[in-house]
Amino acid sequence: MSYLPVDSARPEPVRVGLIGAGWMGAFHARSLAERIPGATLAAIADPAIEPATKLAAELGVEKVTADAADLFADPAIDAVVIAGPIRFHAPLSIAAARADKHVFCEKPGSTTLEELAEIEAAVAETGVHWQIGFNRRYAADFLAARRDLAAGVVGTPQLLRSLTRDPGNGSIPHAARVPQWTMFLETLIHDFDALNWMNPSAEPVSVHVFADALVEPSFKEAGFIDTAVATIRYSNGAIAVAEANFSALYGYDVRGETFGSAGMVQAGRATETAACRYTADGVGAETPRLNIELFADAYRDELADFAAHVAARRDGTAAPDHGVPVTPGLADARRALALARACIESVQSGAAAGVAGSAPEGTHDGAGSVAR
Ligand SMILES: NC(=O)c1ccc[n+]([C@@H]2O[C@H](COP(=O)([O-])OP(=O)(O)OC[C@H]3O[C@@H](n4cnc5c(N)ncnc54)[C@H](O)[C@@H]3O)[C@@H](O)[C@H]2O)c1
Repeated sequence: MSYLPVDSARPEPVRVGLIGAGWMGAFHARSLAERIPGATLAAIADPAIEPATKLAAELGVEKVTADAADLFADPAIDAVVIAGPIRFHAPLSIAAARADKHVFCEKPGSTTLEELAEIEAAVAETGVHWQIGFNRRYAADFLAARRDLAAGVVGTPQLLRSLTRDPGNGSIPHAARVPQWTMFLETLIHDFDALNWMNPSAEPVSVHVFADALVEPSFKEAGFIDTAVATIRYSNGAIAVAEANFSALYGYDVRGETFGSAGMVQAGRATETAACRYTADGVGAETPRLNIELFADAYRDELADFAAHVAARRDGTAAPDHGVPVTPGLADARRALALARACIESVQSGAAAGVAGSAPEGTHDGAGSVAR
């Protein structure tokens, strides 16, 4: 079930060009082409031209190119979805903004705060809409929890928790090819955003991380990390834990909770549905195995929201209103990335690290309250 309004009566769908048609990009392509009335997939750019051409043919997309610059030069394209490798996110975001294309960029936007500032400058200069792929905000249960939080169910947040366990079979054969800080920059970045979002009137101040290669100990010397726990202190005093592991044998497991003075909200469960089977062997349930299973609707809804924002800019109509802040932008990208960078510093030093750009603990204006 979608929690976001999708206006199917919109006369002109937003024309979107996809940049990067790999695992995530191909899923976004299908959503844009088939599941979002407010958008149409107008073009695909990927240097791996063969699979891109095959995908385009399957989805009825006429324009395929190896070079994203062709999309930026096309006046018929309103917006781009960037789902290429992370090192290209910033240059592509900047080039798109300068070409007046609205941008949906997969996380993390950039791996450095300096580069993210360059995107911020380009976006501020041109006024395009820039949105990041923090899809958990669009999952029905996370959004319901966030709405409860705004309604006062939790009171003042005191403890928060977010976890990601990627599906695996107990070994990571490609560990040598995993960039060193993937744990924080690509995986836990989702948890950092979820925690920031679920403690909305506060800033992360400091973090202390324990991390290791417990799934693939033989890669530890090379700096590989597959297991991590980060303890985060927020400016309103709340203490959060984010944890991840790259190999859950039972599937893809994402959960979050905020506990406070008045109660607790939780989102996510390890099982695919609420259905349980009770047999002589005990109690069992199916589990989601892939991110595109668990978050299929959330991935669609984040792009539907993006298209609605772009259409609102283009048509001079009101931007979507979700009742609580949902659409993640550059400030959210910055807060999550600042946490990821502080985690890397903590791993390197073995001590707690301050989070760049945050207000000191207890000085935040909104300490204790919860923003709608
Ligand atoms: N939100 C999520 O849950 C989620 C999940 C998985 C991946 N992602 C993100 O999606 C992005 C892509 O990840 P992936 O797993 O799909 O990777 P992938 O390797 O499967 O796909 C990357 C694609 O980008 C193409 N590419 C390379 N250079 C390019 C360029 N200069 N211009 C255009 N395309 C280029 C490659 O040919 C490939 O097809 C990453 O930012 C990743 O963090 C997000």
